[in-house]
Amino acid sequence: MASTSFSTSSYLKQELQLPCGAVIKNRIVKAAMTERLANRQQQATKRLEKLYKHWSSNGAGLLITGNIMVDKRYKEASANLVLENENAVSSLSEMVRAGTANNTHLWAQISHAGRQSTIFSTFKPIAPSAIQLKKLFLFAKPKAMTMEQINDVEDRFEKTAVLCQKAGFTGIQVHAAHGYLINQFLSPLTNKRTDEYGGTIENRARLLINIINRLRKRLGDSFPISVKLNSADFQRGGFDEDDAMYVIRILERLGIDLLEISGGTYENVVFFERLKQRESTRQREAYFIDFAKKIKAQTALPIMVTGGFRSRSFCEQVLKNIELDLIGFARPFLNEENFPKNFLKTSESRVKDATFDFKIKKMKDFAEAGFYDYQIHRLAKGKSLKPDYNPYKAVVRMTTNELLKGWF
Ligand SMILES: Cc1cc2nc3c(=O)[nH]c(=O)nc-3n(C[C@H](O)[C@H](O)[C@H](O)COP(=O)(O)O)c2cc1C
Repeated sequence: MASTSFSTSSYLKQELQLPCGAVIKNRIVKAAMTERLANRQQQATKRLEKLYKHWSSNGAGLLITGNIMVDKRYKEASANLVLENENAVSSLSEMVRAGTANNTHLWAQISHAGRQSTIFSTFKPIAPSAIQLKKLFLFAKPKAMTMEQINDVEDRFEKTAVLCQKAGFTGIQVHAAHGYLINQFLSPLTNKRTDEYGGTIENRARLLINIINRLRKRLGDSFPISVKLNSADFQRGGFDEDDAMYVIRILERLGIDLLEISGGTYENVVFFERLKQRESTRQREAYFIDFAKKIKAQTALPIMVTGGFRSRSFCEQVLKNIELDLIGFARPFLNEENFPKNFLKTSESRVKDATFDFKIKKMKDFAEAGFYDYQIHRLAKGKSLKPDYNPYKAVVRMTTNELLKGWF
């Protein structure tokens, strides 16, 4: 069970010991943010090293990388890191050294995009069932996976996790949220299979459960394993809170160390857009915290919630109430250069989100992703953030990058 040390008056500054024995020096986590900074061989670059050096010097207890793909054919972005074989391990050493400085944990988020692989990566994506993601014409119709392909995916998650451990990452996070492949299996909207990987939640969860079982066996009992899971997909007929609770009970039995709660998919990006949240949730600042409370009441799993945390006082409050154990922040790291260093200085701290004047409603989340992608790339070059960056430029820049790096 997670244990807590109450040595200071700030709950955010307290360390946390995970079930595997690893200790996180405080409660602040940089949640995964895709960096799109790999080279043409999908390996780590100097820029990634610089970026993680910056982040490990600013005081977060845990940094979780953006998607590291288990299969280069099904990336989420053209310049994703991919870790499929031994050759790529050494290329990660400088980035890992930089990200683990100052007693910071650096965990690799491993992922398979399935049908959320854009056309810049593949015109032949795979998925549990042949159901296309319809968004901005960016995704081709997937082929339903054969049993051989499912077995291959399980092998790949295991192999990539072992290679991450070899590369020096201090933990693993399996991405089972936000509509990526594992989430596609979990959701009845995208999984219409009639074999043992489809139908009941027991079957839909089989891919995730098999992967976690294999990871625990191969990585050992003292290596942190985390899962990022949706509380729900927020789509009618999709993966819902009852499904999530079923999966969480199994994950607890399998001995994971941290459950990160998020929600939504590319079709309904609730993990990004607070506008769609209920008024009560908006008032409470964080998006998925009510569900986290329910899990806390029913399990002993350490819980991290990501999405919407912006004020120091609210963070301290929910930690004090033991509504969760770790707080995930993504955009605050890109809206304030020295986050969380300054955030921890006073009790009134609040991080402001960037505001956009962007008129094309259907592309707003894409513009926002492009805006933050640009900020990540500035930090990776050692430059300061540019809060007034034009979101229309961001769309053009990100599309051009995806196209050039994906197709040429
Ligand atoms: C630029 C950017 C890239 C992201 N990439 C990932 C990713 O690779 N994996 C993931 O699980 N979530 C990703 N997310 C989602 C964040 O981890 C987080 O769930 C979301 O931004 C809500 O947290 P926030 O309100 O603190 O930003 C990304 C978010 C941003 C802004």
